[in-house]
Amino acid sequence: APSLTYPAVKVANVAQVKTGQPIIFNYPDASAPAILVKLGKPAIGGVGSGRDIVAFSALCTHMGCPVQYEGGRFICRCHYSMFDPAKAGQTYQGLASSWLPQIPLRIDGKGDIYAVAVAGLIWGRVKNV
Ligand code: FES
Repeated sequence: APSLTYPAVKVANVAQVKTGQPIIFNYPDASAPAILVKLGKPAIGGVGSGRDIVAFSALCTHMGCPVQYEGGRFICRCHYSMFDPAKAGQTYQGLASSWLPQIPLRIDGKGDIYAVAVAGLIWGRVKNV
């Protein structure tokens, strides 16, 4: 398989990120909507002092509808799939069979948070980048 090179893209600074208030961005390109959120509890792949800041593709893995962060999980209103942001995007309800692709994050010494990769295939794509 070809190795993919992802851009490191600044999403936010930790000082801006409030628990339960999602930040919308695009990654790895302009047509790939994504969501960063601070969960308020430790998460798989979480960054920050609480290990609770995570990011995911915002496209449901079932048929590509947008997911929303609500009540501690990602929900797709098209056919009510739900994904757990604390468990690497695991699907636990609905028609989606693939997990929501997680976007690994890195924080630098100034608290700037960067998206650095995509774990899993974004819906509708044959490759992410
Ligand atoms: Fe999300 Fe069908 S597109 S559940």
